[in-house]
Amino acid sequence: MKVVGINGSARKDGNTALIISKVFDELNKACIETKLIQLADYDIQPCRGCFGCKGRGNCVLAGDGFAEAFSSLVEADGIILGSPVYSADVSAKMKAFLERGGVVVATNPGLLRHKVGASVAAVRRGGGMTTVDTMNHFMLNKEMVLVGSTYWNMVYGKNVGEVLNDEEGMANMSNLGKNMAWLIKQLYNNEEHS
Ligand SMILES: Cc1cc2nc3c(=O)[nH]c(=O)nc-3n(C[C@H](O)[C@H](O)[C@H](O)COP(=O)(O)O)c2cc1C
Repeated sequence: MKVVGINGSARKDGNTALIISKVFDELNKACIETKLIQLADYDIQPCRGCFGCKGRGNCVLAGDGFAEAFSSLVEADGIILGSPVYSADVSAKMKAFLERGGVVVATNPGLLRHKVGASVAAVRRGGGMTTVDTMNHFMLNKEMVLVGSTYWNMVYGKNVGEVLNDEEGMANMSNLGKNMAWLIKQLYNNEEHS
């Protein structure tokens, strides 16, 4: 059982990475493997609208790390999409990732079907809900099953590490991890999960 987290921040190892790690902690306690992919390591390009992905199972635009990252999602049982709030929505890197992934799955139906998903956002002040919604819309459109927690999945902080001071937000991340582990285990033990 494996969960892959995508950190859409341009700032590597920042607040978004910290909140994804908090979810990972609970997954690891439940013996679920985790892997973090930070888009800051790549220069993810936007979709070119060529539809070359049709029937190929991945994007044909090579060399920017998207195809490798997307393959990790296809192999995972669970996916966490994480983004800082940039201009009241997801980062440009996350948006480009969703554009590319969106077309790949649209032209190769079922690639993310029945995977367990959750979206999380690091936010200074405003735009957290929109950011979480943007990522949730992607996953719902790709036949994924989303997990909830005790609040909407945003944690407050500006400078790196400040999210750790948002006790309620971080507790919400822990609970999200527990709920995600529970659902993955339910589905994993069910032969129909494929
Ligand atoms: C380009 C840019 C745009 C931002 N826009 C917003 C915004 O609209 N609303 C907000 O609350 N915070 C905004 N922020 C602050 C970040 O969301 C916040 O600092 C977050 O914790 C960064 O997470 P990170 O360390 O993972 O990059 C913005 C930051 C940057 C760099």
